[in-house]
Amino acid sequence: AAKPDPAITEVQDWSRFLGEGVAAHPYGKPSKYEAHVVKRDVEWLTAGRESSVNFTPLHELDGIITPNGLCFERHHGGIAEVDPAKHRLMINGLVDRQLVFTMDDIKRMPRTNRIYFLECAANSGMEWRGAQLNGCQFTHGMIHNVMYTGVPLRILLEEAGLKTNAKWIMVEGGDAAGMNRSIPIEKALDDCLIAFKMNGEALRAEQGYPLRIVVPGWEGNMWVKWLRRIEVGDQPWHAREETSKYTDLLADGRSRRFTFVMDAKSVVTNPSPQAPLKFKGPNVLTGMAWSGRGTITRVDVTLDGGRNWRTARLDGPVLPRSVARFYVDFDWQGEELMIQSRAMDDTGYVQPTKAELRAVRGLNSIYHNNGIQTWLVRANGETENVEIS
Ligand code: MTE
Ligand code: CO
Repeated sequence: AAKPDPAITEVQDWSRFLGEGVAAHPYGKPSKYEAHVVKRDVEWLTAGRESSVNFTPLHELDGIITPNGLCFERHHGGIAEVDPAKHRLMINGLVDRQLVFTMDDIKRMPRTNRIYFLECAANSGMEWRGAQLNGCQFTHGMIHNVMYTGVPLRILLEEAGLKTNAKWIMVEGGDAAGMNRSIPIEKALDDCLIAFKMNGEALRAEQGYPLRIVVPGWEGNMWVKWLRRIEVGDQPWHAREETSKYTDLLADGRSRRFTFVMDAKSVVTNPSPQAPLKFKGPNVLTGMAWSGRGTITRVDVTLDGGRNWRTARLDGPVLPRSVARFYVDFDWQGEELMIQSRAMDDTGYVQPTKAELRAVRGLNSIYHNNGIQTWLVRANGETENVEIS
């Protein structure tokens, strides 16, 4: 007879004693057994508060929504702790009426709810010249996907009244970095939001409390946090973040500028280096796909380094400029696997291989690396970041 399972035969403490009451954690917290599920940083990338970044633990998540406490953070001047009572949003420049809004003013304007991904343009940037970081948290974790509640920027701009030569806006943050970026007026009037909530609760301080701009599908750097001013102008501002940073140096020495859109991209999150295969037989492969141009229509997955592809199952809401979740339910008998995923969107765009990307962009880039990721699964299930040449 099989040995009795103590998980069944022994009465556990949690069955024996009263647990904590409702007052123990008035804002909630994850189970203590999930303590390993945290944002992590890479020591050599996080020098100090002048420039810091951590990464979303993608391999621990499922569905399409990133919990607020696990959204990666990127700060150029640390986390500003802004008092909402003292926060103002100013609109000035080429407008009929210069306006100043308090948070109370903004919360009395018509608002809307939208789910969007935010991806830092530098996501996967460390992988430009070859496979480097061992884990999708580090190779792809500069992304989060949440539901924002906010006021369409169009409403604010219409209230201010745009002059006929209004072509660009400049958005400016109230943090110590005073980060600012230029946004074309068409985008500002199309789908940008002035958001104060994420996943139903107030923005976290890390994500720009009390106010940030949401720039759907465009690089995360433009989503200015602690938003305090919007200036309307007739040309871009050529700020630091759109000249010396967030430009793409090509092989011939020229730089691409104002590369706003985040192109279609995907990654298999399980298995991956931090989430190796443990069992032979039925297994669930899962991952996420997104496109700043529109809606994911299809994700193909290969287990043998690109010889054979199968179409993954998309599950959960598939929304424009949002992360989509995909699955391949497969059987593993201990053979070596070379896993890749390839996303397609409703513009017909197909995620490129890293070789295709480098053929066009050269080797000097950091930003906008949406090349196909490869994971090598060894016979013992251990999984590694590799490239197929
Ligand atoms: N806004 C301000 N004011 N200061 C910043 O440092 N970082 C930008 C952008 N907005 C930044 C900012 C960058 S580079 C990115 S990728 C996103 O915010 C990161 O947003 P998150 O911290 O919510 O992940
Ligand atoms: Co960024």
